[in-house]
Amino acid sequence: MSEPRLSPSRVLRPREDARSSYNRLARWYDLLAGASEARLCAAGLEALAVREGESALEIGFGTGHALLDLARAAGTEGRVFGIDISDRMVARARARVADAGLAGCVELVQGDAVSLPWPDARFDAAFMAFTLELFDTPDIPVVLAECRRVLKPGGRLGVVAMARRRPGSLMVRLYEWAHRRFPAAVDCRPIPIRALVERSGFVVGRVEESSTWGLPVDIVVGIKMV
Ligand SMILES: C[S@@+](CC[C@H](N)C(=O)[O-])C[C@H]1O[C@@H](n2cnc3c(N)ncnc32)[C@H](O)[C@@H]1O
Repeated sequence: MSEPRLSPSRVLRPREDARSSYNRLARWYDLLAGASEARLCAAGLEALAVREGESALEIGFGTGHALLDLARAAGTEGRVFGIDISDRMVARARARVADAGLAGCVELVQGDAVSLPWPDARFDAAFMAFTLELFDTPDIPVVLAECRRVLKPGGRLGVVAMARRRPGSLMVRLYEWAHRRFPAAVDCRPIPIRALVERSGFVVGRVEESSTWGLPVDIVVGIKMV
């Protein structure tokens, strides 16, 4: 990375650990994430603005709240797909989608976002909330390149993530310390989202700066121009 001060710290854990950790969390995730994340996720979906008839992908959908919003926005002519590494998250999200009567227009798979199981130019929009900052530093551009590959020209990528801005606040430094000290419990860390999205070949169309619990959160929409 050319900007060392903005370079995220590493997340050195095997994929299997990430999978089992989110499997353990699946049952409690909605209680832990709470209303503050829901508000930011909703703002990210609003910025992405999925339209009737579009096909949309969510990466790391967790218990599936955003899938419902995406499916309602895409309507009966549209389609929503999702991938998550945790089979228990997939099961909970499938149940939520079925309870909402949306099973016919949402397809979910269990898998790793570093290798998306869809062909090139498949989607009009892709969405990630509080997920990109969980990937190890070398994997972030891989995931973003996969998003770019599966988006159609003109397709939009919406990212909501804990942001690393300059200068870092005391709260961010404390959080990063906790991440380094207890990487299994505090598995995400602030990342320079706008720069990462731009470096992956997207033109950034919109950035909203927000925060939760004193930690900066950015909502970035990138467009795949070609
Ligand atoms: C912090 S949760 C966010 C869930 C949801 N987006 C939300 O905002 O409530 C991160 C999600 O990413 C998933 N995840 C972690 N690593 C992944 C990977 N390599 N590929 C796909 N999903 C992954 C986890 O299983 C979890 O459901």
